[in-house]
Amino acid sequence: PKVVYVHPDGSQDRLDVPEGTSVMQAAVAQGIVGIVAECGGSAMCATCHVYVDPPDAESLPAVGADEDEMLDCTACPREPGSRLSCRIVLTADLDGLTVRLPEKQR
Ligand code: FES
Repeated sequence: PKVVYVHPDGSQDRLDVPEGTSVMQAAVAQGIVGIVAECGGSAMCATCHVYVDPPDAESLPAVGADEDEMLDCTACPREPGSRLSCRIVLTADLDGLTVRLPEKQR
């Protein structure tokens, strides 16, 4: 499935992300600036924060308890569409998912 990463300046990166890979892992592997992922995907750092706007937001699994807690620790303000990108794992259904990157992660 394809994932579109939208940078704060409006520029975009489109990646082909294998199913089973998280939005964070794919970004780090491709050197996308804007995802730091200090904890390596354990939902413990909040430096993989992204914003997912409707209608994409509705296709994602609900925010988990650990994710919810870390989303209160993001460097940029939490919004209704805030997610940890290490908690968004690609499935075929999510093809075309668009995530906005915050101004900063720490
Ligand atoms: Fe640390 Fe997602 S990589 S919370």
